[in-house]
Amino acid sequence: MKIQGLDLKDIAEEFGTPLYVYDGQKMKDQVATFRKAFSGVCIRINYACKALTNLSVMKLMKNEGTCLDTVSVPEIRMGLSVGFEPNEIIFTPNCVDFSEIVEAVDLGVNINIENIPNLEKFGKRYGSTVPCCVRMNPFIVSKENSEKVTWWHKQSKFGISVSQLEEARSIIDKYGIRVNGLHIHSSSVIMSREIFRKGAAKVFEIAETFEDLDFVDFGGGVKVRHKVDEDILDIYELAEGLKAEHAAFTERYGKEVDLWFEPGRFLVSESGTLLTRTTMVKTNGERVFAGVDSGFNHLIRPMFYDAYHEILNLDNPDGDKATYTVVGNICEIDNFAVDRELPEIKEGHLLALKNTGSYGYVMASNYNSRMRPAEVLVLDGKAHLVRKRDEFEDLVRNQIVLDFESEKVA
Ligand code: LLP
Repeated sequence: MKIQGLDLKDIAEEFGTPLYVYDGQKMKDQVATFRKAFSGVCIRINYACKALTNLSVMKLMKNEGTCLDTVSVPEIRMGLSVGFEPNEIIFTPNCVDFSEIVEAVDLGVNINIENIPNLEKFGKRYGSTVPCCVRMNPFIVSKENSEKVTWWHKQSKFGISVSQLEEARSIIDKYGIRVNGLHIHSSSVIMSREIFRKGAAKVFEIAETFEDLDFVDFGGGVKVRHKVDEDILDIYELAEGLKAEHAAFTERYGKEVDLWFEPGRFLVSESGTLLTRTTMVKTNGERVFAGVDSGFNHLIRPMFYDAYHEILNLDNPDGDKATYTVVGNICEIDNFAVDRELPEIKEGHLLALKNTGSYGYVMASNYNSRMRPAEVLVLDGKAHLVRKRDEFEDLVRNQIVLDFESEKVA
C-alpha cells in the first residue's frame, strides 16, 4: 500500500510502529469534494478539529481555506496559534462552565450556546453587544445507530430542545440577544437519507422564527465508507437534499443565509492509517489470535463503538485467507477485529488499520503505561513527523512522588 508513492512499509521502517500515518493530499481532496458538492450555495466549512487535533493538520486545513470548529478553549488557542483568525473559529462546547464562554468571547471567536442556563448568563452579561448562535435538538431519532453516538433523541444532553424554544425565546427577548445563527449537529453516524432531510426541514422551520440569521450550521456527521459495499448517504446526495430545503427556506425567509458545516470525520478519517506490527500468532485451541503492538489504548473505536476498521496485511496482501481475531496488548479484552478472514498473518507482519484519521489518535491514552504512537503526515510525496512518540518522561512528567519519610506527608 502506498501513499503519494511512498510505501507504508518503508514509512514503518523509518518511524517505527505503532504509527499513525496521514495522507495530506486525501485531506485536501476531501475539502475540495465538500466544496464541489455544495457549489452554488454560500457555505462555510469549519473543520471539527476534535477529530484530529494535530497542529500541522489544522494548519493544512487553514491553507485549504477552511474555518475551524472547536469544543474547548485549548482547541481555540491551538487554532489561533496556527493562523486562524478569531472570526474563522466557532466555539461549540457542551455543558461547559460559563467562564469558558467568557474566555471564548474574550478571544473574539463565534459563540454557540446550547443550554438554557448559559443562554441566560450570556444575555445577562452581554445583552445585545455580542452575537451568538443557538444549538437546537430537533428530536429526530435514528434507530440505526447506538445511543452512544446519536444525539437527536429526547434523552440527549445536546442542545436546546425544540420543546424549550419558547423559554429560549423569552430569554433572547428579555436581554435583546442578537442570535446570528442556528445550529444542529446530527451526530456522526446518523446520516440516513430521511433523517437528515427531516432534520434539515425542521431546522429551517425553526430558523424562520428568528428574525435576522446570518447562517444555519448543520454541524458534522457526514459519514465515510468503512466497508466497500456499505450504503452511506453520499455527500452529493446530501448536498442536493439540503440545497433544495435551503432554496425553499430562502424564498420564505426573504434573505439568503449561509450554510455552515463542521465536518471532522469526512475530512480526515480516510486519510489515516494505523500501522501496527504483529508480535505473535497464537491459538487457545478455539480461535487464532494475531497479537499486535498496539491496542485500544491507541484506537478505541472497535471496542467502544463496535466500529469496523478494515485491516490489511501489508507483508502478505495476497496470501491465502484464514480466520483471525486481531488483538492488542492491553490487559483486558482488546479486539481490533473478531474472527475476520485475512491473508495469512505471521509474526512480524505489518498490519494497516484503515480509516483511522478521525477519533483515532485523539482518543488514545497511556493505559497500561504504554506510549501513544507517533504521527506522520505525508505531503507532496514526503513523510513528515508531526508528533513524536511518547517517551517514558511523558508518562511521569506530571506525577508527584510523595516523600513518605518526611514530615510533609504525615
Ligand atoms: N460538530 C459537533 C457539534 C460535534 O459534536 C461533532 C462531533 C462534530 C461537529 C464532528 O462530527 P464528525 O463530522 O466528525 O462526525 N468519537 C466518535 C465520534 C464523536 C463525535 C463527537 N462530535 C467516533 O469515534 O465515532
